[in-house]
Amino acid sequence: MPSVLFVCLGNICRSPMAEGIFRKLLEERGLSSAYQVDSAGTAAYHVGKGADPRTLEVLSRHDSLCPMTARQVADDDFHRFDYILAMDTSNYDKLWEQCPAEERHRLHKALALTNKGDVPDPYWGGEDGFDHVYSLLKEAMESWLERMEAQRATTT
Ligand code: 4NP
Repeated sequence: MPSVLFVCLGNICRSPMAEGIFRKLLEERGLSSAYQVDSAGTAAYHVGKGADPRTLEVLSRHDSLCPMTARQVADDDFHRFDYILAMDTSNYDKLWEQCPAEERHRLHKALALTNKGDVPDPYWGGEDGFDHVYSLLKEAMESWLERMEAQRATTT
């Protein structure tokens, strides 16, 4: 089964947003049981907490949820997840350092397929930052799922 890990800094704003959007796309396509999905942070500041209320508010407006508990990226994630999608260059670089060289093909930037650069960190900004993150990630997740489904069709 294909597996996807979304990674940001704190695992409370951007990666839960990506996880919620991706889960909703899977649900709409009847694919929820076809993928394993999780999210994690490169930092440990918020381990054990739920997603930021501003992320949950935006997700709920789009009829999505993300019931999760923040955790830090662990060494075995680099063996467990086929796709590890980093929200920005800083987190991508941290993952690159932590990831064994032979597993680095799993690492990507979340907005790579839509060529939109980094997902900006909305934590210290206003509410509209979260709507912007949602729209960047919605477009990107549709592209990723299309790519992953094409890959899955060649292996099943
Ligand atoms: P995230 O946002 O990486 O999208 O979850 C942040 C959450 C917390 C902090 C920074 C970014 N912080 O500094 O506590």
